[in-house]
Amino acid sequence: MATMRRPLIAGNWKMNLDHLQAIAFTQKLGWALKDAKYIASDVEVALFPPFTDLRSLQTLINADSLPFELGAQDLSVHDDGAHTGDVSGAFLKALECSYVIVGHSERRADHHETDDTIAAKSVAARRHGLTPIVCVGETAEDLELHGASKVPVDQLTVVLNSLSKDDDYVVAYEPVWAIGSGQAATADQANDVARALRETISSVHGPDKAETTRILYGGSVKAANIASFMSREHVDGALVGGASLDVSEFSSLIQFPKHVTLDS
Ligand code: PGA
Repeated sequence: MATMRRPLIAGNWKMNLDHLQAIAFTQKLGWALKDAKYIASDVEVALFPPFTDLRSLQTLINADSLPFELGAQDLSVHDDGAHTGDVSGAFLKALECSYVIVGHSERRADHHETDDTIAAKSVAARRHGLTPIVCVGETAEDLELHGASKVPVDQLTVVLNSLSKDDDYVVAYEPVWAIGSGQAATADQANDVARALRETISSVHGPDKAETTRILYGGSVKAANIASFMSREHVDGALVGGASLDVSEFSSLIQFPKHVTLDS
């Protein structure tokens, strides 16, 4: 992690926690971090609840001045109109979302999203002033056939070709085989792919953009392994699924700078 890039810990709740559970969870997380004297300038925290929770969390975060950014798990390529079930980036912006996840492997698998769709979603996000968190990653089969970097680099290249160097975006490297499996990549594996992704950003949008863009690792990140990922040069944060659903686990993970288990 380079010091100029502010670490980002993003909690992807997936299809968990209804709006009442989300309110209770977020209040408890706020208290836990306050008790622990969490300093927001050290680590940025963003929550990605289901769409139906966004309005409740927006209200809570504002009312209690909680140190959380809000994000959505997906958005439509369209801005409005006859697209039943889709959600416009304009509506997310109106709820004060800062971020939106695009291209998560579960959307690629469940909804057959292609790299072109993910590029169009990234452009839609930027149209509404949202920062896309562009997820890329290889399956176990890809890993065997092509090694770790080729598929993520190819996926990212399609998206970057649709964005400009003036667009804010975050990249998340999430090997599909590591998601929800309990089998995280090693910190060195994550760093190697993150380096390749940074080189890709450099070749498409230039070295300055590559230097300032945050690259997250995701896939079975927990309080016990976050410090080793964060000790690596090219890993600037984490996209966390399962471990973001437990208040004490997630608050401990967010406080990774205090961990004494750095094994760089
Ligand atoms: P996991 O999920 O932390 O449960 O592996 C990560 C993700 O899907 O973003």
